[in-house]
Amino acid sequence: MRQVKVGVIGCGHIAQEVHIPNYIQNPKSKLEAICDTNQDILNEVAMKHKIKHVFNDYRELLNSGLVEAVSVCVPTSLHSKVVIDAARCGIHVLCEKPLATNMKEADEMLEAVSRSGVKFMVGFNRRFLPNHLKTKEYLEKGKIGRPILARAQMITTGPYGNEIEKSSCPKEAEKRMGSLFDSGSHLADLMIWMLGKPSAVSASISTHEDEVGVDDSAVVSVKFENGTLGSICVAWLDLPDYQAMEDSRKIEIIGTNGKIESDCLGPSLYFYSTNSLISKLRGKIKITPVKFDPKIPHEALSWSYKKEIDDFLTSIIKNREPSVSGEQAKEALRLILAAYESIRSKSVVTFKTR
Ligand SMILES: NC(=O)c1ccc[n+]([C@@H]2O[C@H](COP(=O)([O-])OP(=O)(O)OC[C@H]3O[C@@H](n4cnc5c(N)ncnc54)[C@H](O)[C@@H]3O)[C@@H](O)[C@H]2O)c1
Repeated sequence: MRQVKVGVIGCGHIAQEVHIPNYIQNPKSKLEAICDTNQDILNEVAMKHKIKHVFNDYRELLNSGLVEAVSVCVPTSLHSKVVIDAARCGIHVLCEKPLATNMKEADEMLEAVSRSGVKFMVGFNRRFLPNHLKTKEYLEKGKIGRPILARAQMITTGPYGNEIEKSSCPKEAEKRMGSLFDSGSHLADLMIWMLGKPSAVSASISTHEDEVGVDDSAVVSVKFENGTLGSICVAWLDLPDYQAMEDSRKIEIIGTNGKIESDCLGPSLYFYSTNSLISKLRGKIKITPVKFDPKIPHEALSWSYKKEIDDFLTSIIKNREPSVSGEQAKEALRLILAAYESIRSKSVVTFKTR
């Protein structure tokens, strides 16, 4: 089997939890090199996974001739610089989400990857959750009729809970990126993927823990071009029992003939349709498209990361486009930036039809 030679740039939380182990486990890839400016992290990760080639400067990794693809797992404010340099070296890129911090960076990244012809994917892993894929399929088949209302809500511990040491949020917060930017970008991507482009956005943010210095809760109202009205609600909370919030993290879409509730982190969705005999007999039914071991926490989420990495590798091997494109990631960024702009200007931000 053809193996893609890969490198990982930035060896923090998401690289250690997702990219590095998945590249090692996937038979389609060979992890050749890693890079981090932090020598301690670099040594620790290289030793743990027996990785021979290590770099402090990502440009040296790109020019080493060791890799044909990289994951970009540096903080978001550095994505554009690294992605553009990788594309100029003819190296395929899987870039973590969100795409960038502003539209200028995003445009420059997309221009660089398009000019070089490399594969470019953005890490919106939630799309690979089997329940979200089923939700999209049901929407496309018209199983709940025409979507009228959509609500996406996600509660995470953000920088407050016991994940504080590992989370990127405090560092991202230094760059003025709060819960809306960090968690909201996943929901923005899922909503656009399921419902199409937005036409108008307004938002409110709040900060309940002053020391974080950025928004730790946000509500965004979105009108989509297809007429659906939606909302995106996110909050970072310090929760002793995170599982108790399970019911509060979902995407709920109500249509003219029914509704779908899809768990943000998987694995299930609830479905009700006035056209379905099962719904008539049993009301709202629970569907779990792929069964996971309930004893393994967030196994569905791990699966979504595994699928994301596999999709990227397959796109290189089979020379097809990856499932999450840079253009799509730019639409999610546009929505989030418009939400912040609405807060700044205290007005509804409308999009020109494109
Ligand atoms: N898909 C998801 O669910 C998800 C989850 C968490 C984070 N992320 C994204 O992943 C990215 C990284 O987040 P994280 O939580 O891993 O952050 P992190 O701070 O834990 O890791 C970032 C690493 O990059 C290194 N770094 C910084 N500048 C560098 C440079 N110039 N060259 C090489 N290495 C450099 C840092 O030393 C650090 O080890 C962010 O864009 C974040 O939004 C995505």
